[in-house]
Amino acid sequence: MNIKLGELLIFWYARNKRNLPWRKTKVPYLIWISEVILQQTRVDQGLDYYLKFVKRFPTILSLASATEEEVLKYWQGLGYYSRARNLHATATYIRDEKDGRFPHKYDEILKLKGIGPYTSAAISSISFGLPYPVIDGNVTRVISRIFGIKENVNSSEGLNKIEKKLKSIFISESPGDFNQAIMELGALVCKPSNPDCAHCVLSTKCIAFKQNLMNDLPNKTKARSPKNIYLYYLVMKFKKENIYFVYFNKRQGNTIWKNLYDFPRIELQKKEKKSKIFNRLKQSKFLIDSSFEIGEIMGPIEHKLSHRNIYAYFISISLDGDLEKNNEEQLVDVNELEYEKLPVPKLIENYIKKYHNWV
Ligand code: ADE
Repeated sequence: MNIKLGELLIFWYARNKRNLPWRKTKVPYLIWISEVILQQTRVDQGLDYYLKFVKRFPTILSLASATEEEVLKYWQGLGYYSRARNLHATATYIRDEKDGRFPHKYDEILKLKGIGPYTSAAISSISFGLPYPVIDGNVTRVISRIFGIKENVNSSEGLNKIEKKLKSIFISESPGDFNQAIMELGALVCKPSNPDCAHCVLSTKCIAFKQNLMNDLPNKTKARSPKNIYLYYLVMKFKKENIYFVYFNKRQGNTIWKNLYDFPRIELQKKEKKSKIFNRLKQSKFLIDSSFEIGEIMGPIEHKLSHRNIYAYFISISLDGDLEKNNEEQLVDVNELEYEKLPVPKLIENYIKKYHNWV
């Protein structure tokens, strides 16, 4: 019965799979890019990013020879920017240390920066036909429902059961198709809420379906509710030889936005009155020796991260001239044309589109 289950899945996949560009290739570089994008984004949102990314960087070598800044620009809006930084670093490593050739073995692929068991199993199975099952959120949901696994899937006990049951239905002869079939079933049929059991090829064998446990499985630890934070950005403008500039801040250190550009900012745990913000502003190290005028406050622009709800306000500040450069903060003056090439967090992109006046 178990073997049949895996074959049913592959049979269903052959007839129902979406027509997607990375399903027409086995080139490991392209599978790698698609899998990294799909780890964080649904197919319909990820598709455009994939197409633009591989058009600009069609090979490992083209990715390695680009600047990290340009790679980040192509990733802009996808979030999890460390993944883009890792893609670039790994492409450079493969060029310099591996003769430009993508490794062919699971363990070697796993050693690459930014590649974990999921991505290594996906590339190994899809590109090289190696028998490694993938486990992601879709797979966990499908397996826990089919086999009625009630243990918390975030515990090692739950995860071990998922792995064991997955291996029991895995088809080693078609590992790439099997892996994609089970993920596709999770995405299209065995959805987190309102699963389409009426059209599921596995429903007659599914314990969750038989016992009406679809909404109880998988049993997961609830994510903590996100914390609100309030960001007050200083949008400092000035005019130089009749061109308008804004100071952007290249983010440094251990932050999700490392090497992206935003503005200098004040971070607060609660919303504050205008007068209080303005008082703090006047003492800011950027402005203390400068002559400036405070304009409007725009916002909030809301930005949701997995663990934070950000409410961002933008304070327009007109400077009389440029600031003394502050190297520690990595301020760079940018005009409208230069901005087009700058990688910025989605939140900043939204501000620029919605509120910013360049003149
Ligand atoms: N989700 C992530 N990778 C996938 C793939 N290769 N097929 C279907 N769904 C996926």
